[in-house]
Amino acid sequence: MFSERTTWELRPSRLAERLAAMRAAGETVLDLTESNPTRAGFAYPREAILEALANPKGLVYDPDPRGLLSARRAIAASQGGIDPSRIVLAASTSEAYSWLFKLLCGEGDEILIPAPGYPLFDFLAKLESVRLARYPLFYDGAWRLDIDAIARLAGPRTRAVVAVHPNNPTGSFLTHQEIDALRTLARERNLAIVSDEVFAAYSFTEEAFSPTLAGETSVLTFSLGGLSKEAGLPQMKLSWIVASGPEALRDEALERLEIIGDTFLSVGTPVQAGIEPLLRAGESVRRMILDRVRANRDALLGARRAEDAWECLHTDGGWYAVLRAPRVMSDEDWALDLLESEHVHVHPGDLFDFPTDGCLVVSLLPPADRFREGIARISARFRARA
Ligand SMILES: Cc1ncc(COP(=O)(O)O)c(C=O)c1O
Repeated sequence: MFSERTTWELRPSRLAERLAAMRAAGETVLDLTESNPTRAGFAYPREAILEALANPKGLVYDPDPRGLLSARRAIAASQGGIDPSRIVLAASTSEAYSWLFKLLCGEGDEILIPAPGYPLFDFLAKLESVRLARYPLFYDGAWRLDIDAIARLAGPRTRAVVAVHPNNPTGSFLTHQEIDALRTLARERNLAIVSDEVFAAYSFTEEAFSPTLAGETSVLTFSLGGLSKEAGLPQMKLSWIVASGPEALRDEALERLEIIGDTFLSVGTPVQAGIEPLLRAGESVRRMILDRVRANRDALLGARRAEDAWECLHTDGGWYAVLRAPRVMSDEDWALDLLESEHVHVHPGDLFDFPTDGCLVVSLLPPADRFREGIARISARFRARA
């Protein structure tokens, strides 16, 4: 009856089952997986956001398949003054991925994605009948790209390589050298680059990381961003694809994306009409989020004692932290153990395809007191079980 594309494993994990049972029994769980900024206790500039949505232009339906030019202009200005004709708007970065997979891949073609990485890729790819191959990031005190592994994995059906910059959940930005190596490989193998830059504004240090790939000239490249992370406004449903690369190829990609966009016309008019004030409001939200994730990360680093058998892996940005637990049980068992004994919910690393067992992922978004309490309980449990 149903398409193979929608054949999923629907059974909840042991962790999800336990969590649901505890919540149903009225037990309070300290959630260190919260990654929805609208539920993380930020003082949003409510009036400015609501006023932005009251623009009378939102009453008229006059769609542009690439997104309203006025909105693309405002976004182009916010992204360092790029040419708005290189931008296509979509309702979310997830939708942008699905459009790019449609643009680049036929059935059975392949996309390379990072591991560890963001779990939604499996669903996005399956829905487009695209195959995924995972290229490893390796950790030697910082997370690095294994460019030789990418070269080995890229086969005749490979169409694109996805780089998440900075990556979720490892928080690693691409270095200049990695970008150069990726560019060379993509050119040699005729691959497009998809650079997911949704977390680019969330760097933990003031030191500049390698910038957006939106200025790329030699390889067809798509840089993704959106209000969801950049302005902490996922409910607005507005993201952008910036195309770059050799002019003729880039323009053909844009024409094809325009038809895909025209097929769905999925971005609402009110959010596009209100984009300028929303981007302005987003600046203050971004500042609050950045202060929060930095402070929580400092608290996490400060919670570890020199003699502890757990560590916090190095990250440069993003909204997450990765803990390496004492190696006495699997990461799924650790997540269950912390839930049962400490009532703290964390993600097991296998959700993100970590190469080694024992990695746990926590969100840095929760309010500081909740975060500190969760980390205090986790570190006490690590010590007790190490
Ligand atoms: C790396 C990465 N890309 C894209 C997305 C999706 O963002 P959006 O809300 O724009 O679909 C997420 C969401 O968590 C993400 O972590």
